[in-house]
Amino acid sequence: MSQIVELSAWSALDSRGKPTVAVRAEVTGGSATVLAPAGASTGRHEVAEARDGGERWGGLGVGGAVKSIRESIGPLLSGVDAADPWVIDAMLEGSAPEAGWGGNATTAVTLAALLAEADAKRRDPWIHFAHLLPDSDPCLPMPMVNIVSGGAHAARAVDIQDVLVVPHGARSFSEAMEMAAQIRHEAARIASQADPQLALLVADEGGVCAPRESNESALELVSAAIATVGLTSAASLALDVAASQFFMDGSYHLASEGRTLSPAEFSEVLSSWAVRHNILSIEDPFAEDEWSTWFARSCELGIRQVVADDLVATDVDRIKRAAQGAANAVLIKVNQAGSIGRALSAITAARTSGMAAVVSARSGDTEDSWLADLAVGSGIGQIKVGSTHRSERTAKWNRLLELEARYASELPFAGFRGFPNGLLSR
Ligand code: PGA
Ligand code: ZN
Repeated sequence: MSQIVELSAWSALDSRGKPTVAVRAEVTGGSATVLAPAGASTGRHEVAEARDGGERWGGLGVGGAVKSIRESIGPLLSGVDAADPWVIDAMLEGSAPEAGWGGNATTAVTLAALLAEADAKRRDPWIHFAHLLPDSDPCLPMPMVNIVSGGAHAARAVDIQDVLVVPHGARSFSEAMEMAAQIRHEAARIASQADPQLALLVADEGGVCAPRESNESALELVSAAIATVGLTSAASLALDVAASQFFMDGSYHLASEGRTLSPAEFSEVLSSWAVRHNILSIEDPFAEDEWSTWFARSCELGIRQVVADDLVATDVDRIKRAAQGAANAVLIKVNQAGSIGRALSAITAARTSGMAAVVSARSGDTEDSWLADLAVGSGIGQIKVGSTHRSERTAKWNRLLELEARYASELPFAGFRGFPNGLLSR
């Protein structure tokens, strides 16, 4: 057992050049520093961040969150056992209006305490995560890699947010990354033939900015890149539609195409994409509060994995509800839950309710690599951290490549293990 000795906090920068909360936790015998990630297409049901408002940093300052850590959370947790993240959660929840502290403060604090405890035990973080999830079977995850971006990650070039690839034919994690990198380079090359600037533009998660013709043109670009590099039988498409971003008054507004669609029409568009492209996984096909659409239509999409992100927001109760037939997989984002303890509970909820899960970075992320350890230690089998470009993305991929090299005999590659076995049924 290690006790929390001190929490220091300051304002740092995330990958979009916006302020974020940094915390260094010192425990007896160890220490760790964590920077909170931040989303752009944040869901309504996520734990809210604390931002200062006002003039400085365009209102996005985190001075208040830093002050809370220094003056309230630090003294509150001083002397507390860092070994149990759920005890820390209970203290945070029971002692103050947590909403006032903000999910950015509590995410950084709880993760820093956990990683400091791992450091004190001289454990690699993935081993520590595996200890905290006793039913886990650690493995190297299948990567889901962003190739082309639209939506909130690329100035709304098209409406859908991400077109990704899953290199399912790979026999190892490193082979999967090589395939993804080949596809990313080829997509940039093809895009630059139509518009030389597109090859230079890098979206928030490191993907190529989508050509503006239509939403499906982004899918066509990735399908073409896969075909040109000869990986048609080894790599499938995955989409993050992020549909909450363009849902208004009961309809899906495809601004880039000048079309407004009812839920039924939009669902038909998605199914037609699934017929024309090899789509293995689709995330947030419908908006975050449209439970009835999810229940009625997800199983009609004809796509093997239907992932709930904004719908469940890494919340145990919402995950259990989604497991009733709205989706067959969930995204796990620690800062949506606001603490690592709650995110670990969400992973357990997904597992016990038979859902697949994907550990995910945010579009505003940091150079931290603990997410890779969380994916490995939890044994979830899938990870999504953006593209093969930008250092806040490669920090996670490179950590996974390191773990693959160092733990060759202990960590099998998940391959398809983490995916749902078949199509979602009602
Ligand atoms: P966000 O995007 O971090 O901007 O929410 C990532 C995602 O939606 O998966
Ligand atoms: Zn998403």
